[in-house]
Amino acid sequence: MTKFQERIFSGVQPTGTLHLGNYLGAIKNFVELQEKYNCIYCVVDQHAITVDQNPQELRSNILEVLASFIAAGVDYQKQIIFQQSSVPAHSQLAWVFNCVSRIGWLNRMTQFKDKAGKNKENVSVGLMVYPNLMAADILAYLATHVPVGDDQKQHLELSRDIAQKFNNDFGVDFFPQPEPLIYGSATRVMSLRDGNKKMSKSDPSDFSRILLTDDDETISAKIRKAKSDSELIPNTKDALQNKPECLNLINILAATTNQSVEQVLGNYAGKEYSSLKKDLADCLVQVISPIRKEINNLLDNRDELNVILAEGTEKAAAIANPVIEEVYRIVGFK
Ligand code: AMP
Ligand code: TRP
Repeated sequence: MTKFQERIFSGVQPTGTLHLGNYLGAIKNFVELQEKYNCIYCVVDQHAITVDQNPQELRSNILEVLASFIAAGVDYQKQIIFQQSSVPAHSQLAWVFNCVSRIGWLNRMTQFKDKAGKNKENVSVGLMVYPNLMAADILAYLATHVPVGDDQKQHLELSRDIAQKFNNDFGVDFFPQPEPLIYGSATRVMSLRDGNKKMSKSDPSDFSRILLTDDDETISAKIRKAKSDSELIPNTKDALQNKPECLNLINILAATTNQSVEQVLGNYAGKEYSSLKKDLADCLVQVISPIRKEINNLLDNRDELNVILAEGTEKAAAIANPVIEEVYRIVGFK
């Protein structure tokens, strides 16, 4: 039995319109988890500026991510949704963690290597220490569980290492070891054009991703044009090993309809991909269309969204501030 009260924390960067990967990998789970847990969902704007952002677009993306949380079903009255930069505890704890975390640990982060590429000497320091800030986000609330897509697994492991090192260094049992919650059939939704690349906001091809703001016709067109196969759908997952685009479509259908991959294969084995695509497009339209409409409604009333953010900030700060107080005492600032 742990002494820590169960609490969920997760964050999404305001770096563009959210896509189906964000929805199936993270936000859909945010909504399910709020039935059982106290949840805190954060628009992580401080993470966004680790790479260049246009200030005007950033401002607008922050409200769009907030609207997407609410439109997808996050209950902002019962749970906490807010903007990272409005609660200074994140930066305060991140600095302490910059001094707990080790350069060798950060050097192993594959996302940093991917994002920095050949430009390693010329990317921001923020991009490198980003996982320390992420650990601070989670641990400023003593959160115990973190729903994320598969790409964040390594960052979560680092958060656990930081929590443990802090506890050991200072001889306390203060921070919990946050557990990743990576579940469902679409923990890693792939590009519709290239099944070896994950669906992402930054892919140059619009046809690689489905956005939560796409209209019904666009959703259908993107699925229709998605890369697949001229062979018939097999009855085992193993047969799809070298066909990542096909497996991706099956995973997406399974996640969207809350079925297992085996169930989907059972229903479609022997059929053509065009028939699966037609059903998949219909399912996605059913899920995304109401979300899109609600995002647009919410964005028509930005004042109300700003009020929701301000209320969230107050509730978040009320939890994080005493944690910072205690951290400052533990490290000897007070
Ligand atoms: P980001 O947009 O990078 O802030 O991601 C927000 C959340 O969506 C994180 O939990 C990610 O792990 C998740 N996510 C992003 N892209 C994908 C994807 N292609 N498949 C599944 N989950 C994803
Ligand atoms: N790094 C996450 C991503 O890119 C976003 C994030 C920032 C996050 N802080 C977090 C996710 C804390 C979970 C918990 O997707």
